[in-house]
Amino acid sequence: MRDPALWNEWHPVALAEEIGTVPKGVCVLGEKIVLYRSSKGITAMRDLCIHRGVPLSLGRVQGDRIVCAYHGWEYDQSGACVCIPALPKHQAIPTKARTPTFACCESLGFVWVCLGEPSRPTPIYEDFVPSELIPLRMGPYPVQASGPRVVENFLDVSHLMFVHEGLLGDREFPEIDDYTMVEENGVFRSTEIAVYQPDPDGRGHGVTSRYTYEIFSPLGVRLTKTADGSDELFHLFLFVLPESETTCTAYMLQLRNYGQDIPDHVFVDFQNTLLAQDKLIVENQKPELLPLDLQAELHLKCDRVAIAYRRRLKELGVTFGTD
Ligand code: FES
Ligand code: CO
Repeated sequence: MRDPALWNEWHPVALAEEIGTVPKGVCVLGEKIVLYRSSKGITAMRDLCIHRGVPLSLGRVQGDRIVCAYHGWEYDQSGACVCIPALPKHQAIPTKARTPTFACCESLGFVWVCLGEPSRPTPIYEDFVPSELIPLRMGPYPVQASGPRVVENFLDVSHLMFVHEGLLGDREFPEIDDYTMVEENGVFRSTEIAVYQPDPDGRGHGVTSRYTYEIFSPLGVRLTKTADGSDELFHLFLFVLPESETTCTAYMLQLRNYGQDIPDHVFVDFQNTLLAQDKLIVENQKPELLPLDLQAELHLKCDRVAIAYRRRLKELGVTFGTD
């Protein structure tokens, strides 16, 4: 059975500027999709010409249509084939000549696709983005691991002192004080968690940070940080595109109220370092799929965010089923 939780969800497929008049192929839950931009906006359709199975992403965009590279069949934005060059003019194009299209939108500088029926016209995250903060988008980061493994790693506070030692944590200060999870309108949020951080964002000085984690959707989460003795506010959203059960691509959106004059690459380079450290862990975890049975692994109180995440996935029926 199709997994309704993921099938009807908005998935990030590209940075907005990656989609232009050159077709781009992406994969969402095993479904190959081609994206292109025309005067009518972005179109997302199955990346497969119905004539002889050639990916439409090998073709080209002409006006509002995409043209197959093999025999030049042209598809309009509704997925209907509207021109078959080899067909004599007096013959009608078969009505069956069409390919499925998918819901697609732009939000927060990313392009999003929903394979099923989206419950909202755009992803929920934009409701949680304060406009006065400086946005910085990051990605794509391909990861050879299951999407929920990547999300859970992002929600894991007690790895900071070990995987990101010297940056986000110090192994001399590994204890995590107790905290709780609260739910509000389907968003799961932790109370504040204090962590001593030697160099939390690459600027070279240590602080005690207060982390809050939020779970918005199966593959969309956020952490918020404040630092003791400062007014600095930092948000980091993680949006994960599940390409298959065991591969995914991560995108991030950082929002902060400081460092206007710090070049973007300082933050991006720092995030790349952290991601490389996390990749080594998540790409080697077993089982590859996140166990949703809470008896399957051991949990501590400090794993409450992860426990809430696993419970939520189970409740939503996330299975990665595709047929
Ligand atoms: Fe696409 Fe023939 S395979 S036009
Ligand atoms: Co990490």
